[in-house]
Amino acid sequence: MHILVTGGAGYIGSHTIIELLQAGHTVEVVDNLSNSNAEVMRRIEELSGKKVPLHVFDLKDKVKTRGIFKASVFDGVIHFAGLKAVGESTQKPLTYYRTNLDSTLTLLETMQEFNVKQLVFSSSATVYGSSTIPYNEFLSTGQGITNPYGQTKYIIEQILKDTAKADGTNCFTVLRYFNPIGAHASGRIGEDPSGVPNNLMPYITQVASGKRKRLSIFGNDYNTIDGTGVRDYIHVVDLAKGHLAALENSQQGWSAYNLGSGKGTSVLELIHAFEQATGIPIPYEFAPRRAGDLPEYYADASKALNELHWKTEKTIEEACADSWRWQSQNPNGYRETTQP
Ligand code: NAD
Ligand code: UFG
Repeated sequence: MHILVTGGAGYIGSHTIIELLQAGHTVEVVDNLSNSNAEVMRRIEELSGKKVPLHVFDLKDKVKTRGIFKASVFDGVIHFAGLKAVGESTQKPLTYYRTNLDSTLTLLETMQEFNVKQLVFSSSATVYGSSTIPYNEFLSTGQGITNPYGQTKYIIEQILKDTAKADGTNCFTVLRYFNPIGAHASGRIGEDPSGVPNNLMPYITQVASGKRKRLSIFGNDYNTIDGTGVRDYIHVVDLAKGHLAALENSQQGWSAYNLGSGKGTSVLELIHAFEQATGIPIPYEFAPRRAGDLPEYYADASKALNELHWKTEKTIEEACADSWRWQSQNPNGYRETTQP
């Protein structure tokens, strides 16, 4: 299949492209590089031996988006492009609504015009709000979402549902990610956050490298196994493979799948797994709870197993070792490399 990957220069997109190429698909990317670096495309080529065209523009630009659909025939689209920082979305809600919704509408209108029916969309466990755990796909969504970023995911899911209802030949798959961590085993591609990381694993690896002094653990008084927050961490390569499974098993209409391991891990457990996997101690301190955080959630991932024939294969320890390999070999992410 010939696949358009929006946001393909980003963390999850880049790993997914490697899996798509390995499975024999061909890929083109649209990315405005607002949260990524074109160097990643060179590394994808180095790892895969295949060249992937990168179109650098904003997906909100209808003229340019139509331009690439005119130039190539796509069998499907994987839509990663969007803004994703939860905290920032509470400071800049309009930027988040404009970027995430407008780019998706532009993409959907263009797909409709060019008769492209298959879409895989990056949603998030955040759409469940504060439901009962483990989260399964039959729970209602949209209640108790604590930030504009999460709202955009919920609204886009509804837009996709309505569009699939109006034209039953569409095949729209919504993937609700739990917490992606890890990196490609080569150490050549990985997560490259700018500034101070918001997420736990990049913060841990930056403490391990000496870039930051210690980790603040947000809350140790939750009603969880050890008082710290519990999440379902999933290796990014397993997550990437989930996109392939979604493409290969796509059905007409709208469907949603959790992509998680089905297992909860606390912050302290993740720190210990990292220390075990790398031999590097992680100094930490307990800090107040972070606003908007839920105590505990993890996936019921059985629907993806039954219908997409997908499940996670990698362990938390492998994810920790791979995250560390990426961080230690690329202390400044993609920024250090100078292009010839
Ligand atoms: P990322 O920021 O690394 O990748 C997103 C890419 O989209 C970036 O390369 C960015 O430059 C690009 N982009 C942003 N706005 C764009 C626009 N208007 N036009 C063109 N390109 C644009 O993020 P990621 O972690 O790879 O996440 C990918 C998707 O998965 C996002 O939609 C995110 O919301 C979703 N998601 C991520 C997580 C997570 O924890 N990483 C969890 C759940 C869902
Ligand atoms: N945490 C710390 N210290 C830190 C960072 C995080 O203790 O410096 C804790 C958090 O309190 C939470 C856990 O580590 O208990 C995980 O936090 P992350 O920020 O890594 O991830 P979240 O679960 O808050 O959210 C992530 C993404 C969202 C996505 C969600 C999907 O950031 O975009 O997973 O489940 F929607």
